[in-house]
Amino acid sequence: MNLTNINVGVIGSGAMGSGIAIVSALAGHNVIISDTNELALTKAEKYIKDNFQKLIEKQKITENEKAEVLHRISFTNQLKQFANCSLIIEAIVENIEIKKNVFKEVEKVVSNECILATNTSSLSITSIASALQTPERFIGIHFFNPANIMPLVEIIPGIATHANITINSKNLINAWGKTTVIAKDTPGFIVNRVARPFYSEALRIYEEGIASIATIDWAMKEIGGFKMGPFELMDMIGHDVNYVVTETVWTQLYFDPKFKPALTQKRLLEAGFLGKKSGKGFYNYKEGTAKNEPQKDNFLGKQIVNRILAMLINEAADTLYLKIASASDIDLAMTKGVNYPKGLLKWADELGIANVIKELNNLREFYDEDRYRISPLLKQKFILKQTFF
Ligand SMILES: NC(=O)c1ccc[n+]([C@@H]2O[C@H](COP(=O)([O-])OP(=O)(O)OC[C@H]3O[C@@H](n4cnc5c(N)ncnc54)[C@H](O)[C@@H]3O)[C@@H](O)[C@H]2O)c1
Repeated sequence: MNLTNINVGVIGSGAMGSGIAIVSALAGHNVIISDTNELALTKAEKYIKDNFQKLIEKQKITENEKAEVLHRISFTNQLKQFANCSLIIEAIVENIEIKKNVFKEVEKVVSNECILATNTSSLSITSIASALQTPERFIGIHFFNPANIMPLVEIIPGIATHANITINSKNLINAWGKTTVIAKDTPGFIVNRVARPFYSEALRIYEEGIASIATIDWAMKEIGGFKMGPFELMDMIGHDVNYVVTETVWTQLYFDPKFKPALTQKRLLEAGFLGKKSGKGFYNYKEGTAKNEPQKDNFLGKQIVNRILAMLINEAADTLYLKIASASDIDLAMTKGVNYPKGLLKWADELGIANVIKELNNLREFYDEDRYRISPLLKQKFILKQTFF
């Protein structure tokens, strides 16, 4: 299937749809972007134009190229405009019934060869596909926010997806300059599953009074090498998004205690303290507010990093054990999707699997909770004295 010079349709012109339209137009495609909300379309048009202006300022494109790219993008509120598209990427509200209905309508308009994709973060690809007459051409193509900047895209076939659709989608998105990984259709796919302990274990350490928010963030950055601390990152993502992702993954995994959300974060959400966007979250962003100072205690800092890192590695190992993705795709996903300083499985090899097991064993023995159960794959690697790579 030749996917060069195809027409791409993007449904939903919000944060993600606008970014996806930018990426596909820059890759040379004609792009049609739709929304049911006229205001959203107007905002998207402005956002896209401003974005290309910034690219000119950074000398990444010329005025002429900007004119050409903009010429390739059109805006509509009519799905019938998608008739000549070979790929549709949907990025509308995260509601399974609304998504299913939109795809039923799209299926009536497009040719049988058109690939149908969803950018959902948390819904089952297989379930959305079940609404279609032709579920074999349906796939998850999951960009990260902002889609025009973040390099990672998760490609998620549902159980009915034809193998060629997976290969063609992966090749196409690679040609757009993105890094793709393949994930099984499971809650959170790779990144939103493996990253959960970064937030939840930090919250747990804070709830137990072991360290303050500022100290945990300091430790993860200064000692762990992460670009942002867990609390800064949760505040940046927004608790309306970050908490809901945690709760959704936990619910969909039949309330596995490993993924249990923290009440501390729920209370912030209930209070409307959503993080940076509302001026208050774990930190206060109002001008003139004194900064919370960390307790720069190296011994405590190392304890915090070792605990959170062991839990992250445990989840990465379980993701591999459950065949959700390959070892190299898991490491690629965490470095390209959430900027981790190292792939977690490579990190486990460097730390020594025995040391990771020791850390997890201490937690499990002390707390006696299923949350701290050790991945069978980690145990196996330890017994067989193997490494991940
Ligand atoms: N925001 C993120 O960080 C992020 C990251 C990855 C994936 N996603 C996923 O991408 C999707 C969109 O998220 P977003 O953050 O861009 O949302 P958003 O609220 O910014 O935009 C959604 C847009 O869809 C439009 N819309 C709603 N129903 C529609 C319909 N029936 N037909 C056409 N347009 C419709 C809305 O008017 C709105 O403009 C969701 O599935 C979300 O889970 C979001």
